[in-house]
Amino acid sequence: TRTAAVIPAAGRGVRLGPGAPKALRALNGTPMLIHAVRAMAASRSVSLVVVVAPPDGASEVKALLDSHALPERTDFAVVPGGETRQESVRLGLEALPPGIDIVLVHDAARPLVPVDTVDAVIEAVRDGAPAVVPALPLADTVKQVEPAAAPGAPEPVVATPERARLRAVQTPQGFDRDTLVRAHETVTGEVTDDASMVEQLGLQVVVVPGHEEAFKVTRPLDLVLAEAVLARRRL
Ligand code: CTP
Ligand code: MG
Repeated sequence: TRTAAVIPAAGRGVRLGPGAPKALRALNGTPMLIHAVRAMAASRSVSLVVVVAPPDGASEVKALLDSHALPERTDFAVVPGGETRQESVRLGLEALPPGIDIVLVHDAARPLVPVDTVDAVIEAVRDGAPAVVPALPLADTVKQVEPAAAPGAPEPVVATPERARLRAVQTPQGFDRDTLVRAHETVTGEVTDDASMVEQLGLQVVVVPGHEEAFKVTRPLDLVLAEAVLARRRL
């Protein structure tokens, strides 16, 4: 089998606040995207990494990859992204050459995922799962709410799902390539993760253990945490 990683990196990073597109922001001096690319290329199974760049930033991202040390055994490609993450992933999938049969989809915003997590996802796909997600149990209890009656009013709680059965899902998510392509051709509604599209095909998605360091850099506090993790690794 041959495995490729698609890294959607075309988002603006609105929740991180004003500045460069999130994937291009530095963590301890190195762009978040480069950390994420290295995290995928760290797996000996990953032979190709496709970066989906901001629509007007493909040449900047190409230059960035050229100017940072990356493993020799891995190929790299850059394609421009789209309006939504879903569209960016689809554009990345369209850039995959023949011969790739397993695809990882990994957020540029999760720069610190350990290689053991990446390999565990790939292995579960090799073992026959059409879709695999790394995930962790929740620390917080989750409430389902209804919209408030008026702006600023408290939101009514409608349910409390049993916490022990909930999982917070991370990336890289791993897929049988043909299954993920079919999911993108079939599913039309908005989704917040790739595996949910495979669920909508009626196929079984499975969970493997995620990792605390695979958290998503979303808000400013996440930058503080990411830089602290890197400092602990001496990177
Ligand atoms: N992404 C993308 N194309 C988009 C939107 C998002 O490739 N049109 C990517 C982001 O670059 C990121 C990943 O999808 O690596 C996860 O998205 P998220 O964390 O939401 O990043 P942003 O959309 O950039 O952040 P925000 O939602 O705060 O604007
Ligand atoms: Mg977003």
